[in-house]
Amino acid sequence: MRCASMIDMIDLIRKKRDGFALTAEEIDAFVQGYTAGQVPDYQAAALLMAIFLRGMTDEELRALMEAMIRSGEVLDLSTLSGPKVDKHSTGGVGDKISLHLAPAVAACGVLVPMISGRGLGHSGGTLDKLESIPGFSTCLSIQEFLSVLRRCGLSLIGQTDRLVPADKKLYALRDVTGTVESIPLIAASIMSKKLAEGIDALVLDVKVGSGAFMKTRSQARQLAETMCEIGRRAGKRVTAFLTDMSQPLGRMVGNAAEVNEAVAVLRGRGEPDLIELTRALGGEMLRLGGLVTDEHQGAARVEQALAQGEALRRFAQCALLQGARVDLAHAAEADAWMGCNLHPAQPLPSPQAGYVVSIDAQAVGLAGVELRAGRKRKEDDIDPAAYIRLDRKRGEAVEAGEPLCHVGAAPDLPPPQREAALRLLRSAYQIGPEPPPSVPLILEVLR
Ligand code: URA
Repeated sequence: MRCASMIDMIDLIRKKRDGFALTAEEIDAFVQGYTAGQVPDYQAAALLMAIFLRGMTDEELRALMEAMIRSGEVLDLSTLSGPKVDKHSTGGVGDKISLHLAPAVAACGVLVPMISGRGLGHSGGTLDKLESIPGFSTCLSIQEFLSVLRRCGLSLIGQTDRLVPADKKLYALRDVTGTVESIPLIAASIMSKKLAEGIDALVLDVKVGSGAFMKTRSQARQLAETMCEIGRRAGKRVTAFLTDMSQPLGRMVGNAAEVNEAVAVLRGRGEPDLIELTRALGGEMLRLGGLVTDEHQGAARVEQALAQGEALRRFAQCALLQGARVDLAHAAEADAWMGCNLHPAQPLPSPQAGYVVSIDAQAVGLAGVELRAGRKRKEDDIDPAAYIRLDRKRGEAVEAGEPLCHVGAAPDLPPPQREAALRLLRSAYQIGPEPPPSVPLILEVLR
């Protein structure tokens, strides 16, 4: 491969901009050059935008994903006994499923070596949520990652300088350059991380709707099929679920608040949509791991692990091993349980009586970004205590003046940002005289 300093990035950008396919060698030189800091952000951003607008051929996508994997190491988990299965979501609003799903499945005997991401665009990220637990480190060495995995059956980390470092940099750049919603860029990002994990099987949760990067079912199906094909070609068992993201999942949006909500699921409670998806994805993970003969048996095992507290114990153990300064299994249940007091909240009253017909999940996610629960620039700090609580969800009745949601914002948040968040939330809720028809959470399963 050519050394990155020898590639002419301007030629590459022009070539892609004008609709020509890049060679595998050019893509590799770009990926390694950017990872090594030899290609500046502005040229990488221009190339990402050209890819976003022009798309990629199957060969280019494969070359991009393989170059991203090659930017770091691929884990060898062959010395660990037991099936190794992961789950990855394409990103949504209020999607905290990984936090309780990974320990629930680990409690059933699957090893879950999970490399996750930060918030992307309007969507939340598992790493930002975990880091709202004081002390929790998502940046482990490979040895530490394997040691946590061996001891409690799961470990949750981010991309590092040795594991898909190219995705670490490209992901952060895409977040702030309007280049997220691209099938090849999402597929390469997700599958490079998952194939570097050394897993046997993968369950993909491909979100569809306003809060997802794929707004229509056909786009989501195309993304799902692309990723399934990549995974199967690499010898992995893969199932993709297409699931509804036209309203947020659960009732909490915001980092610490979402950890709270996930811990409620680990305590055997939790919102029905969270439980339904956890059962379905977890049941399939157990099936792909060969621990059960069908997904229904798997779902029942996952539910048992949640109900009996074993999933909570696993999560608490994982958190302590990854540096958390609070024992989640024994912490009190108040909002302050993890040392991160949520901000005081203000209600957003309903302008009229009726039923919630829809909640635009993207607008809710963008309101979260205004509250600093997500980033507008790469260097922005996250406010872990900012949140939105959805008092009403689709189909629920509300009286005029009753709260649709509550908004927890830092006292020093500039008033224009607070106002922008409230405006987005007001526009997100549609109220009508009749309850809307129900929308299934699980739209399709591709096996
Ligand atoms: N999740 C990822 O890991 N990458 C994307 O691009 C989108 C969701």
